[in-house]
Amino acid sequence: MSKHKNKEKAAEQSKHDFDFNGGWDYSPSPESIGHVKLKERYDLYIDGKFVKPNSGKYFQTTNPATEKVLAEVAHANESDVDKAVKAARKAYENVWSKLSAKERGKYIYRIARLMQEKARELAVVETLDAGKTIRESRDVDVPLACNHFFYYAGWADKLEYAFPNRTVSALGVAGQIIPWNFPLLMGAWKIAPALAAGNTVVLKPAETTPLTAMLLAEIIHESGLPAGVVNILTGYGDTGAAIVNHPDINKIAFTGSTNVGKIIQKAVAGTGKKLTLELGGKSANIVFEDAAIDQAVEGIVNGIFFNQGHVCCAGSRLFVQESVADEVIRKLKDRLDTLYVGDPLDKNTDIGAINSKEQFETIQKYIQIGKDEGASMYESTCQLPENGFFVRPTLFTDVAQSSRIAQEEIFGPVLTIQTFRTIDEVIQKANNSPYGLAAGVWTDKGSRIFNLTTKLRAGVIWANTYNKFDPTSPFGGYKESGFGREGGLQGLGAYLKIER
Ligand code: NAI
Ligand code: MG
Repeated sequence: MSKHKNKEKAAEQSKHDFDFNGGWDYSPSPESIGHVKLKERYDLYIDGKFVKPNSGKYFQTTNPATEKVLAEVAHANESDVDKAVKAARKAYENVWSKLSAKERGKYIYRIARLMQEKARELAVVETLDAGKTIRESRDVDVPLACNHFFYYAGWADKLEYAFPNRTVSALGVAGQIIPWNFPLLMGAWKIAPALAAGNTVVLKPAETTPLTAMLLAEIIHESGLPAGVVNILTGYGDTGAAIVNHPDINKIAFTGSTNVGKIIQKAVAGTGKKLTLELGGKSANIVFEDAAIDQAVEGIVNGIFFNQGHVCCAGSRLFVQESVADEVIRKLKDRLDTLYVGDPLDKNTDIGAINSKEQFETIQKYIQIGKDEGASMYESTCQLPENGFFVRPTLFTDVAQSSRIAQEEIFGPVLTIQTFRTIDEVIQKANNSPYGLAAGVWTDKGSRIFNLTTKLRAGVIWANTYNKFDPTSPFGGYKESGFGREGGLQGLGAYLKIER
């Protein structure tokens, strides 16, 4: 390193404790993709067959890290949806509800095992289609998706133990609409409990991430699941709306934006369809002065930068107790500079590509709003790839409670930081949000954790950790974050009629 460079480095270093920007590079370590063969075109999976859409239309899905087209998928219209719902109804009446619960469970286990066998392919395709890092799709999304099938397979023949002294029965046909942030995992969250409870399914993946859903359709086909029990239709919002509005559907499960959630709630009102909505969030992550600060910093990073911040329960609002705020913010800035942003297929990458151009523009819009509102912005100094949609990990300090960046969901790698002095103050600030999905608490005191868990209005509260998921624990929100729970027994109950 030249003397001049050293001087520059020293100047830079005086700003922070460490300079991680020089001499800490890893060699590239890209995941091989040779074993993955995508088709040029994917049709709809209806009644146990891959069929061309009645609409005759197809659309392209791209890799947001390269902006290259990966494949074409069918755009299902109302008549395709009708065909799928009819197939699901027929399969429910004639086959699925007639099978013993034990037999139904075996199919679900088989799907789980086949997914495990194809885990590597699923992870690579998820990363290609969604832009998320291979580390996350390989270590989080795919294993968790398999776990959901394994977990619910176990319940299939034990429903009377799951809900003792109650009579339980399946609902019928479930219509399920999922988002693009965890495409395969959301598919598993929806399909596994629905099948275990004895329902049949019509599922629609998001338009920017349809490919792992189609691989799942192939896996389901290979499992020998009776025709029509699971139908998978690709398409846009109009396809989703056709599922929601179909009169012969008994249950709608939706994960996505609060806006669309509201439209669906109105559409379903008075129809007798059972509904669960898992919508947006603006979750508070709260650090007290007695917390293990270095661990908390890791938790903050994991809370907001995991999956590029495309996480409904992302810890996007950080509250730090005033006495440790300087230390936490300084350590966070240092940590931001160590995060690798870039090729999602590289195993070293921490932050991959933003899922779509639209979402990229939304995030840029919010960063500008934050600046215009007078908050102080800090972003990491890393180089971004030339193509694709990438955003540097970003944080804002001097954020007002009323600021839009502190109130609205950004769904990107952007953190707002506020400080507090007392517990009452932070509870009041944390709850001052239209959302209520999750929260994190970092403290050494167990009593404080218990106190906060009763007062924070959030569906999930993590203590001294963040973004931990498990098929056995329920997940879901309050207020504009939606209602109903997924995961655990509660998630099973959401697909059952439970009577005394
Ligand atoms: P979106 O809510 O439009 O998309 C989610 C799913 O709903 C997709 O499969 C879409 O095709 C479908 N959909 C769209 N309109 C529909 C309708 N009228 N009826 C039935 N289904 C419909 O979300 P979008 O536009 O992709 O993202 C916008 C914002 O929503 C994001 O910036 C983020 O803030 C939030 N979001 C939250 C998610 C979460 O997990 N809570 C997931 C995705 C987005
Ligand atoms: Mg895509």
